[in-house]
Amino acid sequence: MREEHIERLIHSERGQAQVKHFAFIWLQAYGLLSAYQLHQDKNVNEDVYDAMMEEVSHLVKHVFYTPSAPFSDLLSADYTFLNSTLADYYGIPSNSDNPNDFVQTDTDERGGILTTGLFTIGDKATAIPIGKALFVRRNLLCQTFPPEPSASEEIKQQIASVIDPLYEQGLLTPTKYYELAGDHLSCDSCHRYAISPLFALDDFDYQGLPRKRVAGKVVAKGLGPNGKEGLIVDAIDNGRLYGIETLPTTGQEPFIPFYGSKDLGRKLAEQEHVKQCFVQNLTNFAAGSYHAGRITEASADIYKAFTEAGDDPMAAYKAIGHSSIIRLRQK
Ligand code: HEC
Repeated sequence: MREEHIERLIHSERGQAQVKHFAFIWLQAYGLLSAYQLHQDKNVNEDVYDAMMEEVSHLVKHVFYTPSAPFSDLLSADYTFLNSTLADYYGIPSNSDNPNDFVQTDTDERGGILTTGLFTIGDKATAIPIGKALFVRRNLLCQTFPPEPSASEEIKQQIASVIDPLYEQGLLTPTKYYELAGDHLSCDSCHRYAISPLFALDDFDYQGLPRKRVAGKVVAKGLGPNGKEGLIVDAIDNGRLYGIETLPTTGQEPFIPFYGSKDLGRKLAEQEHVKQCFVQNLTNFAAGSYHAGRITEASADIYKAFTEAGDDPMAAYKAIGHSSIIRLRQK
């Protein structure tokens, strides 16, 4: 296909809609719609939810279509895109004075997909930390978990004997709950190293808002009717990404320490492997068979185009346009 033709397609409404569609599939945002519908508190009303979708769409399109916006902004920008609804909801001052106007807004608190409302919102307080950790493993690192074994009654009871008293006393944060729920020798190969140390991502709550900080520590309310306020979420101080290339199993793997979602985003964005996984995901998407997967021969050329252009997603998108696998070319 001729260069100008690809150029035109990519910048067309249809080309831009594909980038947005990719962003939502990549973020598994379509699944979240049902999470939203189940939402008990209803603090996140439909306007806020829609604005969260648009925030992600604007960010991803910005990084694709603005030559000066680096790939790393996808994971760790110092700005985000807010309309007046979302700015109010997040509590961030913005120049937008109406719901149709998404304005690029500087912020230290947020930036990058791991900090967006859409990524952090969930149906209930407990559902979130594992989902976020799995997203990093599967969609950013292209790692695959072996099937989960089922726990014996004995193990379940052992775990419950630790969790239940803390719950009764109102001392169990959502984050702690999931740490303990997989805390058993027979569960360690996945939970202890691959999943739980990523719970430092849980500095945003299930309503898409940053958790409160008291004296520099991230705090949360305990689960259940007796839930105490102001419990320190110690996972935030102990974030460790073990195993970049492959899933860690022993804790002997090299690791990257991190503090909270934004810091993890910043550090992931520097990783060669994360870039490869991103290009692979984009290629898989364009091929119409979305799954998070490893770099293959088909995507090697596309990855080359991406790196030669200084880690430019648009260069990958164009290379996909030139390759034989694409969706853009249909019709
Ligand atoms: C082979 C890796 C692996 C092992 C071993 C493993 N898990 Fe998991 N566990 C996972 C994955 C992956 C998920 C996320 C499942 C999903 O939602 O896709 C998960 C999710 C969970 C959840 C959350 C489920 C939910 O409904 O949200 C709990 C609780 C849990 N595991 C407990 C355990 C216990 C207890 C053990 C040990 C008996 C164990 N796991 C062993 C991989 C593992």
